[in-house]
Amino acid sequence: MKTYLITGAAGFIGANFLKYILKKHEDIKVIVVDSLTYAGNLGTIKEELKDSRVKFEKVDIRNRKEIERIFSENKVDYVVNFAAESHVDRSIENPQIFLETNILGTQNLLDNAKKSWTISKDENGYPVYREGVKYLQVSTDEVYGSLSKDYDEPIDLIIDDEDVKKVVKNRKNLKTYGDKFFTEENPVDPRSPYSASKTGADHIVIAYGETYKLPINITRCSNNYGPYHFPEKLIPLMIKNILEGKKLPVYGKGDNVRDWLYVEDHCKGIDLVLREAKLREIYNIGGLNEEKNINIVKLIIDILKEEITNNDEYRKVLKTDISNINYDLITYVQDRLGHDMRYAINPSKIAKDLSWYPETDFETGIRKTVKWYLENQDWVNEVVSGDYQKYYDRMY
Ligand code: NAD
Ligand code: DAU
Repeated sequence: MKTYLITGAAGFIGANFLKYILKKHEDIKVIVVDSLTYAGNLGTIKEELKDSRVKFEKVDIRNRKEIERIFSENKVDYVVNFAAESHVDRSIENPQIFLETNILGTQNLLDNAKKSWTISKDENGYPVYREGVKYLQVSTDEVYGSLSKDYDEPIDLIIDDEDVKKVVKNRKNLKTYGDKFFTEENPVDPRSPYSASKTGADHIVIAYGETYKLPINITRCSNNYGPYHFPEKLIPLMIKNILEGKKLPVYGKGDNVRDWLYVEDHCKGIDLVLREAKLREIYNIGGLNEEKNINIVKLIIDILKEEITNNDEYRKVLKTDISNINYDLITYVQDRLGHDMRYAINPSKIAKDLSWYPETDFETGIRKTVKWYLENQDWVNEVVSGDYQKYYDRMY
């Protein structure tokens, strides 16, 4: 029986991870710690909260007393830290909370994980930590900075490593917009307040791993997409706006490239790293799916129109005329400050060490995602009922 402490599990990836591990492992207990910011929603995990294996704590990861209490009341085996301020645009507006939550919150969790360790001394009298909480920090590819976009139209992506080829057997027609990729060896080079705060957190995690020999891992993933994605991020925002007949704000020329990873593939990767990876290693988790923002937006328009045309039930959620669903909805708006041009992950290390690869091709993943939103409009209405509208009006 293992006990997971999952922070941020009322948010997008954390909630998907909670759902995934409850299905995957019968014999577990889970403590969910979430302060329920604008991005956290209990409705997202309402079924899971009925499960007798799950306990919910509405606690801020920065709260030293409360986090200490939770660790002292439970024998935790794994900590998976998803809790963070996660939106780049909000970090440009107000960096302070990003540094506080993402860096100091992480340190608070680590301090308490460290207390759970049995300490003995080595032959030189230095402390050696044994048997205790294993800590996984969910980080981001944005810590590596920005890659150049070398091609306007994508070229074929050739995987030449035979071991990796064997693992990535089910993915065909892979494409890339550039010659360089993020590997775990890349120096960090964060360029937004968000990514700087995530890099700071990574450094603290690494420091605790090296100094106290705590059993830590860091995963750095690319852009996730899928169910329960908050509609301030590109994909769910575009779906929501299309359904409402609103303009689709594309930053700059729409030619920035992201590497899209289906959230369930990511969750599988995290659980594998937690249970099977060598301690103190960093793993990049990418989608092997690079695409320009403008192409993503056009594809969503096409798929949404097709799904609505073919399904009367879906048509009921449309708040505009179906003939309004076309590329004229796209509007180019002022670019994001310091907008990173391209992210692309080389997932060879996790493929080789843990036989993980991103199983879901984008065409399949984005169609599943669009259909999920069409079938879960109640969820969307619930999560935007807070101060979302004020944020939206400020931004667009
Ligand atoms: P999200 O914004 O959807 O959810 C964040 C969750 O953390 C929410 O439930 C929120 O209530 C909670 N939270 C925020 N501050 C907290 C605090 N101080 N104490 C306790 N809980 C708090 O984020 P997400 O997109 O699910 O991202 C999860 C993690 O993955 C983050 O660490 C993010 O940096 C990282 N990440 C996300 C992506 C992505 O594409 N979404 C990609 C790479 C890395
Ligand atoms: O790469 C991993 C990161 O991906 C995570 O660490 C972040 O938490 C997550 O939010 C995401 O960051 P991005 O900034 O890449 O995601 P976002 O959905 O905000 O934007 C994706 C791209 O789309 C980016 O190039 C900006 C652009 N964009 C975004 C919005 C919200 C638009 O053109 N218009 C928009 O309205």
